[in-house]
Amino acid sequence: MANRIERVAVLGAGVMGHGIAQVAAMAGHRVTLHDPDAAAADRGLARIRANLDKGVSLGKVREEERAEALDRISPEPSLAAACERADLVVEAAPERMEMKRSLFRDVEAAAPPSALLATNTSSLSIDAIAEVLAEPERFLGLHFFNPVHLMALVEVVRGSRTGEATLDAGVAFARGLGKDPIVVRDAPGFASSRLGVALGLEAMRMVEEDVAEPADIDKAMVLGYRHPMGPLRLTDLVGLDVRLAIAEYLHEKLGGERYRPPAILRRMVEEGKLGRKTGEGFYRWDKGGR
Ligand code: CAA
Repeated sequence: MANRIERVAVLGAGVMGHGIAQVAAMAGHRVTLHDPDAAAADRGLARIRANLDKGVSLGKVREEERAEALDRISPEPSLAAACERADLVVEAAPERMEMKRSLFRDVEAAAPPSALLATNTSSLSIDAIAEVLAEPERFLGLHFFNPVHLMALVEVVRGSRTGEATLDAGVAFARGLGKDPIVVRDAPGFASSRLGVALGLEAMRMVEEDVAEPADIDKAMVLGYRHPMGPLRLTDLVGLDVRLAIAEYLHEKLGGERYRPPAILRRMVEEGKLGRKTGEGFYRWDKGGR
């Protein structure tokens, strides 16, 4: 088992993957960033550059830190080449079980036997993904939060077959990135999605029942509970389609009414109102994403 993590492969250069690659590179790791879609890989690298540029302009990142971090990240179009020298592989692909399983079959074949294998899933079962692995003891969840370069939390998820050394290495890796990890058992929605989605769905039911305007429901949490942003605005940022998929999954796994997706959520997704990425959700967003 790798006890020193130097080289990290990040699979997926989207919203989460680019951020994970950035924070790993900033912490001194050499990073290979793999995305099968070349345009997505380019967009991911552009976002990393933009985040670092903004960090420099805010005085939070030094010019040489920016240059060194960029220098440590290598885009790699081949999955096998991205994984072949990795001490840790972090998968940040779309939230589809079959896609993740098929990816990890290939990852296990390509990565060194000592490498740790991690998924950034926000709610899918670690044990169910690990079923395809010959060595599930080296597999765990490392769940980051968006925007990764600003959010302190990492949920380190322990599957029933995750080894102790793997878990310890995952916690140490997250701390090394300057994050504040919590350890969570592999239970549907872990700690963060289970609580966060419950709040979001209740806020949507309140919109359906005309309790208050979306902006005022959000204000209740921002001003009354000191949340940095209300649950409806956050849903717009995460994407209504993403929230719907997680709600359906939690409803199936946990039963009861708590996670049954509200009709308004289904309707808005059918209408293509997915939040910031489509310009409309519970709020209207201009092209600059405001
Ligand atoms: N590099 C370095 N530092 C930066 C930076 C950058 N590119 N951009 C901003 N910062 C710094 C700022 O200087 C500031 O620092 P100080 O606090 O020291 O002043 C800090 O980061 C906050 O920046 P801003 O004041 O500009 O922004 P903000 O106050 O609007 O906070 C935020 C930004 C932290 C993202 C805040 O909007 C927030 O907490 N949003 C909620 C995010 C959230 O809930 N995410 C979870 C989504 S759910 C998820 O991700 C899980 C899932 O699986 C779907």
